[in-house]
Amino acid sequence: MAGLATLVLTALWLLLPAYLANMMPVLVGGGRPIDGGREWKDGRRILGNGKTWRGFVLAPLLAAALFTVLDLGTRQGWWPFVTFAASPAWTFAFACAMGYGALIGDLTESFFKRRLGKERGAPWPVFDQLDFVVGAWILAILASAALMPLYGAFWFGATFAWSVLLVQLVLTPALHLAVNFLGFKLGLKEVPW
Ligand code: CTP
Ligand code: MG
Repeated sequence: MAGLATLVLTALWLLLPAYLANMMPVLVGGGRPIDGGREWKDGRRILGNGKTWRGFVLAPLLAAALFTVLDLGTRQGWWPFVTFAASPAWTFAFACAMGYGALIGDLTESFFKRRLGKERGAPWPVFDQLDFVVGAWILAILASAALMPLYGAFWFGATFAWSVLLVQLVLTPALHLAVNFLGFKLGLKEVPW
């Protein structure tokens, strides 16, 4: 039981840079849409007004900065999570990779949503909940591979056990729905998903 609780907390903690980056655009997004209002061949928007430059650029940076501060607390022994990376600077770097991966996953999902004729904010179960997780993993893997000579190890492999990845995959949809419902109730999101 204690082992399971530790596994769940570790899984959620290690995905926090992606969670924060995925939530942050609701607060800091807006302004010019990434697709500049342009349409795809099918006459629908490429991405839609919900995908803005400000959200894309700022959210992962702010999320990584916030997570790096939280990671400092871990190093001080203030909360019992695993140390994210070898130093705070590396934590910031890999948290950025996860955050930008999360938002790239989100953009990719919106592209396919528009191709399927789903308007901005229309639900697309499972994809809505996991787009950013898969994106975060992919960019974390790419960054780990690229930075391996500098870091001295394959960060993703050294940090994310298979059990951790599995728990992240299973628990994220439920957590995501709960957080979005809260955001909707607080008036931050237009739809409850
Ligand atoms: N957002 C943003 N820039 C981004 C991503 C998100 O400004 N790159 C903001 C938008 O205000 C968006 C909100 O965050 O409405 C919530 O994001 P999300 O739920 O992913 O967007 P949806 O509006 O649901 O759009 P889509 O149907 O394309 O997923
Ligand atoms: Mg989305």
